[in-house]
Amino acid sequence: MLALKVNGALHQVEAEPDTPLLYVLRNDLALNGAKYGCGLGQCGACTVLIEGRPAFSCITPISVLAECEVTTVEGLGSVEAPGPVQRAFMGEQAAQCGFCIPGMMLRAHALLKQHKQPSDAEIRSYLESNLCRCGTHMRIVRAVRRAAELMRAAAGSE
Ligand code: FES
Ligand code: FES
Repeated sequence: MLALKVNGALHQVEAEPDTPLLYVLRNDLALNGAKYGCGLGQCGACTVLIEGRPAFSCITPISVLAECEVTTVEGLGSVEAPGPVQRAFMGEQAAQCGFCIPGMMLRAHALLKQHKQPSDAEIRSYLESNLCRCGTHMRIVRAVRRAAELMRAAAGSE
């Protein structure tokens, strides 16, 4: 039995210590935002945040996650109350099949937490490890820019 903190909630998980986090998220916790793409740490579809930093959940064993806070795309907002990154991606219609988008949003969120106004080059560079086979890259970059604006506006009104 292993304790796993995901999106602020503590879960007791019954799984082998070397089980990839992605399997636990999808199969045990019904958090299906993170996707199985390559299973090899090469596509980014499974990206989550661990302590605020992007990580490939397909190659992250749950044994290394004690005391860690995991964030999935479900933790960025809800259907009723989407977060700024989610609103920006919807506003720019930055998805075709949508398979890569949860990972893209989490990586974008991590970038914007440390960099409030990244340039297009910085956005492209930070998101480089997440692949989009639909070729939605231009819209994704626009969405990240828009999310940055929304986050700056929200910070300014606090
Ligand atoms: S499924 Fe994890 S990086 Fe591709
Ligand atoms: S929108 Fe289809 S893989 Fe990116």
